[in-house]
Amino acid sequence: MSSQDIPDENLPAEQEAAHGAVGVADEKNPFANPGLPPHEHRIQDTDERAAKRSERVVALLFTVSMLATVAFIAAYVAIPSDKSIFVFPIGHLSALNFALGLTLGTALFCIGAGAVHWARTLMSDVEITDERHPIAAPADVRAKVIADFKQGAKESAIGRRGLIRTTMFGALTLVPLAGVVLLRDLGPLPGTSLRHTLWSKGKLLVNMNTNEPLRPEDVAVGSLTFAKPEGLEETDEEFQTEIAKAALMIVRLQPDNIKDKRELEWSHEGIVAYSKICTHVGCPISLYEQQTHHVLCPCHQSTFDLSDGARVIFGPAGHALPQLRIGVNDEGYLEALGDFEEPVGPAFWERG
Ligand code: FES
Repeated sequence: MSSQDIPDENLPAEQEAAHGAVGVADEKNPFANPGLPPHEHRIQDTDERAAKRSERVVALLFTVSMLATVAFIAAYVAIPSDKSIFVFPIGHLSALNFALGLTLGTALFCIGAGAVHWARTLMSDVEITDERHPIAAPADVRAKVIADFKQGAKESAIGRRGLIRTTMFGALTLVPLAGVVLLRDLGPLPGTSLRHTLWSKGKLLVNMNTNEPLRPEDVAVGSLTFAKPEGLEETDEEFQTEIAKAALMIVRLQPDNIKDKRELEWSHEGIVAYSKICTHVGCPISLYEQQTHHVLCPCHQSTFDLSDGARVIFGPAGHALPQLRIGVNDEGYLEALGDFEEPVGPAFWERG
């Protein structure tokens, strides 16, 4: 008996009956062979031991994928980023990059290879023809599609082949973990650092251009002065991180022009200090209009009224600029009287 004559118990009766029968497919018999050579059974269709062998190969590939994903995570955690290795014929390269590429490549390759081997050796390979239909499928065709889908699921034997099913789901579940561990590269968790800056009671306001502590007489009406906390030097390792939160705008207003009562109390002789960081998406504010007391963010044109608590009068910013309470110390220098009472920059929470 040739392999072509062997009935396949996994196939539906009408499909099995159509094997080898040359004819034109129609709705009644979509499995009719449209002139192709007669269908030939594979060894796995007729020999259960060969099918088992294929099943083990597929399971092995999915298992290797799982191990490679675990190795990827282990390499990411264990290998220092500055370690290099020599790989012939490429030469010296980062050991971490090499390990990550090798393990993730293996994990993805094995999932693909396992799926291909599964489809080629164990899933149904019977030729099926179907007529073209109008794009809008009628209800009975949709029902047929669903029936075909269920039939396909049945023929894939995913229900019967538990080993493949388990290892495939294991491999597909583990592979996304490789992306999850890479989230660590977004940087350290912010903790409470977003709520605090370098400003504290007694810290002097230092002119960012001259690097000199500011006195009230250094701030002229109509000028816009940028300041940083004393002790923060551009050569400091944390300068960029800290200045992004602590940068100040200093402006002198006529006290009579200050409409907001709290703003007046937190100022010194009309000198007000506000965060320079826009509350929209954090651009540094740099434009000041003396007549209107407005400051403008150049990124998306948010405009803040410095004579009225720096409230937003135009643009996409959702919050007023935080104000720093200032005074003058015994030596006549401008000093902070505490930290900002609100988080600076773009707010991702509702401010109280
Ligand atoms: S960052 Fe200032 S308006 Fe967008």
